[in-house]
Amino acid sequence: MITKCLFPVAGYGTRFLPATKAQPKEMLPILTTPLIQYGVEEALEAGMKNIAFVTGRNKRSIEDHFDITYELEDQISGTSKESRLHSIRELIDKCTFSYTRQTHMRGLGDAILTGEMLIGNQPFGVILADDLCVGESDNVMAQMVRVYEKYRFSVVAVEEVPVGEVDKYGIISGEQLDDEHIRVERMVEKPAPQDAPSNLAVIGRYILTPDIFEILQNTPPGKNGEVQLTDALQTQAANGKVIGYRFQGRRFDCGSVDGFVEATNFFYARQTKTP
Ligand code: UTP
Repeated sequence: MITKCLFPVAGYGTRFLPATKAQPKEMLPILTTPLIQYGVEEALEAGMKNIAFVTGRNKRSIEDHFDITYELEDQISGTSKESRLHSIRELIDKCTFSYTRQTHMRGLGDAILTGEMLIGNQPFGVILADDLCVGESDNVMAQMVRVYEKYRFSVVAVEEVPVGEVDKYGIISGEQLDDEHIRVERMVEKPAPQDAPSNLAVIGRYILTPDIFEILQNTPPGKNGEVQLTDALQTQAANGKVIGYRFQGRRFDCGSVDGFVEATNFFYARQTKTP
């Protein structure tokens, strides 16, 4: 059973300035729900009740969001507005939340290493909340748990991206096991199109085995001077221990303005269709 999910939320979100100058990008809403809440809902549905955040400065509103707001709740208690808090109250009731801070923005790999004290020695999920995923039937993390249960290796969710966009992602290649699963052999962080081993991009969903922490400790800064999770995963992949999974569903890159607007339109259309 994987019970823990790590949310690295320490990044600056520079693509959303000035909106992210004094608030976390993870609190930007798609309709009325902040991105981070969609991520935690996905983790809980996948069986991960212990939610661990690696935060940074300016991220306090995330902690407040996953806590009771007495005055407000008292004020709207018994009114029709109360139902608007049901979804977040359910998460607060069912999950535990723990936090630690990444003091310097040294990259996603460093953020995950910072979270080791909250995770310990067990496999765990990682969700980058600015990738908003809508699964087909099961959500993407729940699909990945099944992949982990089959292979017992780290799992990365992948999708095909246009060749011109490979330099925004970690790109994988490897042995195709069946339509959905790839035994990863190579992983390259943000390659130039001519150097990319494929157009299969890793998106913000991972299940990691705990040996990743020791590997990260020994991973020197890579692309952009940051400790790259991709480099640590490449070490696992060299031993055949990373599975790439083509998930069933859709991903919106809500860290970019285009993806954010697309997600908003998608969720709005879906909401207005449901009675
Ligand atoms: P991004 O590459 O999206 O960076 O990080 P960012 O700072 O969030 O956004 P932009 O590019 O400046 O607009 C990917 C994920 O890794 C986390 C971010 O919070 C995001 O969830 N991260 C990145 C950290 O937690 N710490 C870091 O040092 C770097």
